[in-house]
Amino acid sequence: MTVGMLDLAQIQQLENDHQPPLYAKREIALIRGEGAYLFDSDGRRYLDAMSNYGVAILGHADREYAAALNDQLQTLATGHQSFYSDVRAELLSEIAEIAPDGLTRYFLSNSGAEAVEAAIKFARVATGRPNLVAAKRGYHGRTLGALAATADQKYRAPFEPLAPHATHVAFNDVDALAAAVDDQTAAILLEPIQGEGGIWPASPKYLQSVREIATDRGALLIADEIQTGFRTGAPWSISDSTVVPDVLVTAKALANGFPIGLTMFTEAISAAIPSGAHGTTFGASPLACRAALATLRALRERDLYARSAALGAQLMERLTGIGSPRVRQVRGRGMMIGVELKERVTPTLRELQKRGVLVLPAGPTTFRLLPPLIWEQQHVDEFMEAATATLG
Ligand SMILES: Cc1ncc(COP(=O)(O)O)c(C=O)c1O
Repeated sequence: MTVGMLDLAQIQQLENDHQPPLYAKREIALIRGEGAYLFDSDGRRYLDAMSNYGVAILGHADREYAAALNDQLQTLATGHQSFYSDVRAELLSEIAEIAPDGLTRYFLSNSGAEAVEAAIKFARVATGRPNLVAAKRGYHGRTLGALAATADQKYRAPFEPLAPHATHVAFNDVDALAAAVDDQTAAILLEPIQGEGGIWPASPKYLQSVREIATDRGALLIADEIQTGFRTGAPWSISDSTVVPDVLVTAKALANGFPIGLTMFTEAISAAIPSGAHGTTFGASPLACRAALATLRALRERDLYARSAALGAQLMERLTGIGSPRVRQVRGRGMMIGVELKERVTPTLRELQKRGVLVLPAGPTTFRLLPPLIWEQQHVDEFMEAATATLG
């Protein structure tokens, strides 16, 4: 079959016939991207305010990124970690430049859930304890370990019993956390800004208390920056506080769409992991490493952290400024913004899509912006025009 020859009806029929019904699909097929825009199978253009769930941080079809991948494909694409690799070594040194203090060891894998899975396994082996404490509304992925940490029954219930055991406490509630962490807790696992749950930032004071509770009780603190990573004006959103976690996981935007996961941790944790106890065939391949390297360099060299922080702040201010009676609250940081409505969100998602803008839900009443960091003033203005017409 020649790629690119199917019309929308054919695409929908084939996907509906052959995929399990896991996703509530939108009624368009996205087939091409260019910078801040996506195009559907009928040639209609959309402003991308979602980056494919926070992934395409450099936007679409970035020339330098594509050239780097093309070059690596023609040099060496795959390479197991039982052999050394020049590109992997370069990526590790680039990661070390942006790592929080003390996180000097890096395990590379293929997805966010795998990064969390590794974090849980390493925390268990380093502490000799079995359990987790995580937050209500928190989301950490769908593999069985990551799913145990994920709170929502919608994801968990069909697959129970889950291991390891996780207790879920109210987010931003120090007393609830203090009551839940005991001598069986290997780790406290939290998103510094809850993403899927509705864009809820942790207060710096709460993060400070979480750090103290973890240290006092001998548990590790794992920061899940899979969604927040790179899009809050800095590589890590937790660096807004003075808190340094024992483990930090990221994925999504790290390689601008090439599948990757990264678990960062301390020397002490590394020393506890037996040789051969964990691994992955695809993880840290030269191609994945080149993709991440090209992404991290572009973020730094094009000054995208600072620019996106300024545009994100402007977006939040202007969204609040609409003064819509349908909006309960605008929350977020940098290019991670939630608009909580007083009503269900689906009609608003549809309306924005009709106006040529793609955003995501985050829970039943919130829509979420995770734009590519390459947005410029014109994209903010274009988004605001559609948002004002939709919400006003
Ligand atoms: C905070 C957080 N953790 C973990 C995950 C799981 O990542 P993946 O879908 O790559 O497995 C996600 C994905 O949305 C996430 O937002």
